[in-house]
Amino acid sequence: DYMLLLLGLSFVLVCIHFLTKSLAATKFGPVNLPPGPRPFPVIGNILELGNKPHQALAELSKSHGPIMSLKLGSITTIVISSPHVAKEALQTHDQALSGRTILDGVRVQDHHKVSMVWLPALAPWRNLRKVCATQMFTAQRLDATQVAAFTTVMNSVSNTFFSIDLAHYQSALSENFKDLVYSVMEEVGRPNIADYFPILRSVDPQGIRKRATTSIGKLLNIFDGIIHERIQTREKTMSKECKDLLDSLLNLAEENSSELSPAVIKHLFLDLFFAGTDTTSSTVEWAMAELLHNPEKLTKAQTELRQLLGKGGLVQEFDINKLPYLQAVMKETLRLHPPAPFLVPHKAETDVEISSYVVPKTAQILVNVWAMGRDSSLWQNPTSFMPERFIESEIDVKGRDFELIPFGAGRRICPGLPLAQRMVHLMLASLLYTFDWKLAHDLKPEDMDMTEKFGLTLHKSEPPLAVPIKQQESQEHLYS
Ligand code: HEM
Repeated sequence: DYMLLLLGLSFVLVCIHFLTKSLAATKFGPVNLPPGPRPFPVIGNILELGNKPHQALAELSKSHGPIMSLKLGSITTIVISSPHVAKEALQTHDQALSGRTILDGVRVQDHHKVSMVWLPALAPWRNLRKVCATQMFTAQRLDATQVAAFTTVMNSVSNTFFSIDLAHYQSALSENFKDLVYSVMEEVGRPNIADYFPILRSVDPQGIRKRATTSIGKLLNIFDGIIHERIQTREKTMSKECKDLLDSLLNLAEENSSELSPAVIKHLFLDLFFAGTDTTSSTVEWAMAELLHNPEKLTKAQTELRQLLGKGGLVQEFDINKLPYLQAVMKETLRLHPPAPFLVPHKAETDVEISSYVVPKTAQILVNVWAMGRDSSLWQNPTSFMPERFIESEIDVKGRDFELIPFGAGRRICPGLPLAQRMVHLMLASLLYTFDWKLAHDLKPEDMDMTEKFGLTLHKSEPPLAVPIKQQESQEHLYS
């Protein structure tokens, strides 16, 4: 009897084992997930992210490989850290992996239902991308007479879009536009428990959605006001003249064939501001910081500019092509300091096989471009700032060279790339051409704090403090 009982018990245990395994394969995801650190119950691997997740995941991928899987709360997350696997994901399986995991903070005023950043890559999204490609980055000239990062970028963007200096714009509620943008970035960039445990969304445990609702609502109202004011002026003057992006979009909205409406346009502006402002200004900020940290490279960039433009010149867009060192500075800055170190996370729309592992449907995909930029098997002296490495090289940031994809690649590649390149090159050129630079408080370049702060974009933890000085007579030799 005893033996029979033991046999029976073993049979039951074996059954349970196979049952849980098959359940794991069907309900909880396929068994052939990429390798990764063992998750804790409930929280998964959240604690391993720390406050610099891009660095923590780069370190983990050294032991688990270029494609690994983790659990962030209840979200299966796949982390990609090599150009080869990134190419499989963003080129070979571009369509299947082109979804988005929507952050709870942007589910405000149904933004995610009309937003180019958050829509799945289907027809409405395609329409918005087409509008941007054809309307947004056409011949609007940017001039480089203004200096300084965030405010200038915001004004460059807002002038290109609707001919207004938004950084100084006071809304009807007398609230500063710039402060509103900051507060949304802070809320949406804050780690949100509801994103790790979607079951908690309705509770909004940290109040992030509540606060984002207020500030995003105010920003949308500001855009609404600008759009309707323009509609009225156009009606009054009976003009369809296209002086900026807003005019082009309103013209399109009036054509029946387009799915644009003033309501969609205001959400588009919201996206363009959030995707375009902080990313661009942090690139300029890092480029200046690296140049101040490496004064001989700063002089090299200034010499190139001053030799090209002579004295009393003005940097203009068509000069950029003639400034290979400046272009190399931008690439080198984006290699070391990509503003979006994981791109904008993608989502698998179906099960996909990559490098003989399965990326399960609905998994979130992070491409760690920060890790790839510092991989010693891809770059010599990876942590040194050496723009020279790009002088003789064909490598570009446009999504074809997978070792350097700070703008992403494939169908979700940043649509603002041409505008971002123009703004960064022009702002840097004008800062370097017009002034000489000295670190504040007589700080020595080698004593600069170059640490990063992880947030919605990857910033310098302390902004570089430098003093612009009028060019010295002694610098005359720089002009040829
Ligand atoms: C998306 C980088 C500037 C608009 C993205 C993505 C990255 C990126 C990595 C995600 C790509 C992906 O999902 O795989 C950058 C960098 C910039 C910059 C490094 C500056 C240096 C801009 C500017 C604009 C812009 C100036 C527009 C004014 C967008 C939009 C998306 C996007 C709308 C979402 C596209 C979509 O989901 O289909 N950007 N960006 N970006 N970017 Fe940029």
